[in-house]
Amino acid sequence: MSAPAAHVHDRVTRRLHWLNAVLAVVTVLLALCLLGAPRHGEARGWFLTLHGSCGIAILVLTLFWVGWRLRHRSPPLRPTLRRSEALLARATQIAILFLLIAMPVTGYVSLAAAGKPVSLLGVVTLPTLMPESGRLSQAAIALHLLGEFLVYGLVALHVAAALIHGFVRRDGILERMLPKI
Ligand code: HEM
Ligand code: HEM
Repeated sequence: MSAPAAHVHDRVTRRLHWLNAVLAVVTVLLALCLLGAPRHGEARGWFLTLHGSCGIAILVLTLFWVGWRLRHRSPPLRPTLRRSEALLARATQIAILFLLIAMPVTGYVSLAAAGKPVSLLGVVTLPTLMPESGRLSQAAIALHLLGEFLVYGLVALHVAAALIHGFVRRDGILERMLPKI
């Protein structure tokens, strides 16, 4: 069953969704490259710069996304979903949006509070908005690591649900976020 136009997310939301989805995958892959690189090598520094830059891009896009969504309502869901399913889906999506803001913030604080500059692609250095504090930096990295597993869990749940709707239930939910052909 395909989704009629009125039931499809608007073009801006769809673009933001896929741009952020790709950036999130790239950011996690860069984090894995960073963890695999030699501790004090130059490559590690570059992976961290690229990881942080993609993460900051996600932050900016997600803040815009949240602002956009507060002004533009989600298209109505057709009554094929149980109320509990719709609530779980919404809660998962809101938690993912929250993490797309919390992850870059904790990543930034972990570096800035350790007195390490945060650079965007090695071109612009972000201002350090806090005094140096080892405890704050440690707390931020601990939250960043915890958030990592929440991101994996929630995104896996979200993608699995989207694919089940698209290929098993065929109820038009997946099409709500696909580009119009
Ligand atoms: C949505 C955005 C982000 C996601 C999903 C993300 C995800 C991750 C992941 C999966 C790791 C590996 C953790 C581990 O297993 O040890 C990591 C590490 C890290 N991230 Fe992020 N991150 C994001 C944004 C940022 C930003 C914006 C910064 C800094 C400006 C940053 C700084 C760091 C640092 C410093 C580490 C630890 C590296 C190390 O162990 O040497 N992250 N991040
Ligand atoms: C193959 C991967 C993915 C598929 C098939 C997919 C599919 C979907 C679909 C169909 C919706 C609309 C659901 C509805 O209208 O109720 C949606 C919403 C959403 N997705 Fe995904 N998604 C994927 C990956 C991701 C990733 C990686 C992220 C986060 C980084 C993400 C974050 C979100 C968010 C936050 C929403 C809510 C959008 C809003 O209401 O504005 N998705 N996704």
